[in-house]
Amino acid sequence: MLKQLLPRTIFFRYLLIIIAPVLLLQIILTIVFFDSLWIKTNKGLARTLVGQINTLVEVYSNPKTNKDFNFVKNIFENKLISKIYVLENYKLPSLKKPKIYNLYDQLLDEQLTRQINAPFWYDTKNSKDFVDIRVSINKTILQFIVEKSRIRNSSARIFILWITIPSILFLLISILFLRNQIKPFTSLADSAEKFGKGQYVPELKPSGAVEVRKVIIEFEKMKRRILRHISQRTAMLSGISHDLKTPLTRLKLQIEILNKNHALDKVKSDVLEMEKMIAEYLDFSSSQETGNTIQFDLSNLMTEIKQKYNNNKITFKCNEKILMLGRKHLIKRCLYNLIDNSVKYAGNADIIVKKNNSAIEISIEDDGPGVPKNERERVMRPFYRIDKSRQMADGSVGLGLSIVQDIVNSHGGTIKLADNPKGKGLRVTLNFPA
Ligand SMILES: Nc1ncnc2c1ncn2[C@@H]1O[C@H](COP(=O)(O)OP(=O)(O)OP(=O)(O)O)[C@@H](O)[C@H]1O
Ligand SMILES: [Mg+2]
Repeated sequence: MLKQLLPRTIFFRYLLIIIAPVLLLQIILTIVFFDSLWIKTNKGLARTLVGQINTLVEVYSNPKTNKDFNFVKNIFENKLISKIYVLENYKLPSLKKPKIYNLYDQLLDEQLTRQINAPFWYDTKNSKDFVDIRVSINKTILQFIVEKSRIRNSSARIFILWITIPSILFLLISILFLRNQIKPFTSLADSAEKFGKGQYVPELKPSGAVEVRKVIIEFEKMKRRILRHISQRTAMLSGISHDLKTPLTRLKLQIEILNKNHALDKVKSDVLEMEKMIAEYLDFSSSQETGNTIQFDLSNLMTEIKQKYNNNKITFKCNEKILMLGRKHLIKRCLYNLIDNSVKYAGNADIIVKKNNSAIEISIEDDGPGVPKNERERVMRPFYRIDKSRQMADGSVGLGLSIVQDIVNSHGGTIKLADNPKGKGLRVTLNFPA
């Protein structure tokens, strides 16, 4: 339950760890402040004010003391109460109950109700600086004008400003620092993800806290070890394949000499197949070599490919000049393999090259039988073919798509097989970061 509520990213978790105590402290401080400082002082001030008003009202309404009213009035005026007026033949306006959120009006209302035994009216909003309180005695009205600053504790605003603005400021600063601390984690996660997919990842510079640095250094060591291992293995296998070429050629020659009555035809075709497999494997391992990365024009590359096929069943659509950063001969091999497949398994193929703000998209659409959904992952594996018996005859080995995937990955791109949206057939989409 708690797990579901907690934020998922480390950044937001850390933020919560920082924010939660600060926020709680703020809430506690605000409650304590409001209760002890704001409410209590303002209540005290309101009580005193209404007490004084009550004295004046009593002096005025009692016939015995009425004649001394002016004397008493002079004593009270310009203290808590600024001005006192006696209004003859006035009617009290009707009074609205204070709103629940208007704490000050509520305090005043409560004190007036408790202490004054005559109809009263007050207004705290009409004037910016004064509060107007009126009490009705028979046909006269006593009006009291009170300066707001004398009866209101105004430190609330200052207090809230002082407590919220610095805490927001400090929070922003800590968010900035926090982001810098999280950065190495994110780049490490990205690198690990890409490396796992077999894509090329530039070396990570250790940064951040000691522990994170250590993880990055160890990750880099591990990466180098794995890469060394792969290249050693590839080098060994291609060495063997290479060495096999000479005995195979010799075998072929000997078969030609001995193959009088076509008795060795089967052996011959097996040898040819082996030769083809070796050639393809050598191709595959050379696709893993790291050549020079250059910037080249994709539309030029398309023209080169078009010339090779010289076939009006294959159409090319590349409207603009698109520059791509990569190893040109590998990208070319990649496209050859895909177009070869379309030529072999379908008939017609459309090659469409597009560029949007962050990616270059190359798609090859054909009208062949397509690749069923459950085979789409498997066809990428080396030496995997869907229909083995049929395809071996036309010299397929099953390395084409593995080579494509390898090349695409090493360029930081992705490959996707899907149904051709035009209906029948396969659509292969390559996406490269632009
Ligand atoms: N355009 C396509 N239409 C239908 N099936 C395809 C298409 N492309 C590939 N496949 C299927 O995926 C399998 C693997 O393709 P891949 O290119 O890796 O090997 P291959 O074409 O059989 O041999 P190679 O390319 O090494 O000569 C193929 O055997 C084929 O069954
Ligand atoms: Mg192929």
